[in-house]
Amino acid sequence: MTRIAVILGSTRPNRNGSQVARWVVDTASQRGDAEFELIDLRDHPLPHLDEPMAPMFGPSVNTHTRAWAERIAPFDGFVVVTPEYNGGVPGVLKNAIDHLCAEWTDKAVGFVSYGVNGGARAVVQLRTVCGTLGMADVGHQVAISVLTDFENYTTFTPRDHHMAALNKTLDQLIAWSAALAPLRAGAETTLVDS
Ligand SMILES: Cc1cc2nc3c(=O)[nH]c(=O)nc-3n(C[C@H](O)[C@H](O)[C@H](O)COP(=O)(O)O)c2cc1C
Repeated sequence: MTRIAVILGSTRPNRNGSQVARWVVDTASQRGDAEFELIDLRDHPLPHLDEPMAPMFGPSVNTHTRAWAERIAPFDGFVVVTPEYNGGVPGVLKNAIDHLCAEWTDKAVGFVSYGVNGGARAVVQLRTVCGTLGMADVGHQVAISVLTDFENYTTFTPRDHHMAALNKTLDQLIAWSAALAPLRAGAETTLVDS
């Protein structure tokens, strides 16, 4: 079955992101058409990128990078749950993405963002980043307001239109994750042959 990782891109204390990511995993897991797993960047405390070679040009040498690569490699697609920090992507999330390359390529990605205005500016940046890595970013997305979709800015209260947007995002994400599988198989063959 298609395997999708839900990556939580916020690590700070008192983060709102854990409620959003849990809602994504719980909602998605009720569908039955793919397997979903939460990946919390708190469990992968990577340093600022410290690999001697860029991941697209050479193998990683550091234990933490290899562990991160092994965590990401088995998945067919990703939902990135991201806040918007200062009009863009949280540094911890961008750093985690930058540590790898092949583990992202030819896989699908969808976005669930949150912020004062739904976190859309972080997603605009992530679409560019993920496209550069050869990922297929699905058009549907979920945008959540910390002003109107949280009680007292702390308790997430998802509404019907969020659920509908999430399911549309997942529909496309799962379809594209499966459709790209032959490309990923070809890439593995090429590596073995060379
Ligand atoms: C460093 C920082 C910068 C922020 N910048 C923005 C911003 O540019 N736009 C926005 O909509 N919200 C911004 N916020 C508010 C966040 O959207 C809100 O605090 C959200 O809960 C952050 O996600 P988290 O709680 O999971 O870390 C910022 C919050 C922090 C901590």
